[in-house]
Amino acid sequence: MYKILRNFLFLFDAELIHEFSVKFIKLFFNIPLTKTIIRRFFVVNHHSLEKKLFGLTFKNPVGLAAGFDKNADSYREFSNFGFGFIEIGTVTPLPQPGNPKKRIFRLVEDKSLINRLGFNNKGLEVITENLKKKRDIIIGANIGKNFFTENVDAHDDYLKCLTDLNDYVDYFAVNISSPNTKGLRDFHDKKLLKPLLEKLVNKNNEMRNSKPLLLKISPDINSQQLDAIIQLVLELKIDGVIATNTTISRDGIESKYKEETGGLSGMKLRDKSNLIISSLRKKLGADFPIIGVGGIMNAEDALKKIKCGADLVQLYTGFIYEGPSLIKRINNLLLDQELNKNYEK
Ligand code: FNR
Repeated sequence: MYKILRNFLFLFDAELIHEFSVKFIKLFFNIPLTKTIIRRFFVVNHHSLEKKLFGLTFKNPVGLAAGFDKNADSYREFSNFGFGFIEIGTVTPLPQPGNPKKRIFRLVEDKSLINRLGFNNKGLEVITENLKKKRDIIIGANIGKNFFTENVDAHDDYLKCLTDLNDYVDYFAVNISSPNTKGLRDFHDKKLLKPLLEKLVNKNNEMRNSKPLLLKISPDINSQQLDAIIQLVLELKIDGVIATNTTISRDGIESKYKEETGGLSGMKLRDKSNLIISSLRKKLGADFPIIGVGGIMNAEDALKKIKCGADLVQLYTGFIYEGPSLIKRINNLLLDQELNKNYEK
């Protein structure tokens, strides 16, 4: 059924449809009993799906990736589709409009998207306010820097987000990996990353109620860069790594949009992201928390990511192409695996 709806929605501009669908879903949840019915249909509740990671207990390992609820204005409604956690943002201290439109492209043949949104968001003040609502889902805040902030001053932007949001979220994702903010990915260089992370870790440790600090990385780094990041993450006791953000590679892309600037997500990102996750797991050891994201378009893709080493997974493009039932399908498959494992024991 979602396929029919999708074919209709895909006739219109991607960003417009995103905004429209979110507004519609928010209105829809105002109808009495909607929440109960939707939850009954989509939520897979089973203690075997639970994951304990960096001090938090996730009801299931499937999360909504950053970028979908940039302004934290619909996490309560979307939590009803069965997610175990939602990452809001990227949040920047000041509101900003992002890049000129059109800036999201659907690459249907490739089951992928290209976006060059450029951290459009309503800014820290509005987003902090939005996060004060009551909720029963784990929320991470993905934090970044404003467009006009130079890299030498970027730490001030991240620190401001970290301090102001501290009371309202469960974990932080330090985003150094969006390809749509000039110079941001330079932070994959150890010389820039170390002072940034040191400042964030110190500030976080000073807080009365410090939160897990995760690093979200790009799939486009070479193995030397990855090794340096791994070393730093262990040295500074970063709580986890999120792998990966979108890619600037266009390998194997067929769509006419392949020349569009921006980050590519979806099916054609999957293998690149899995390589990074496998490498991280091998080098970080069995217990280090890894969130795997990139190209989960069906339940088997999620299972593969977990087999590569992810403890939790996130999705964005798969949610657009497959609809909310994807979350249920993933959780059911993971539950099956868990129950079989226990049965075999
Ligand atoms: C994103 N992504 C993203 N990531 C991030 O850290 N901050 C952000 O603001 C955004 N914004 C954003 C917008 C759009 C339209 C897309 C498609 C993606 C990246 C996202 O969180 C994820 O890392 C990648 O999209 C890979 O996962 P999927 O989409 O292949 O499941």
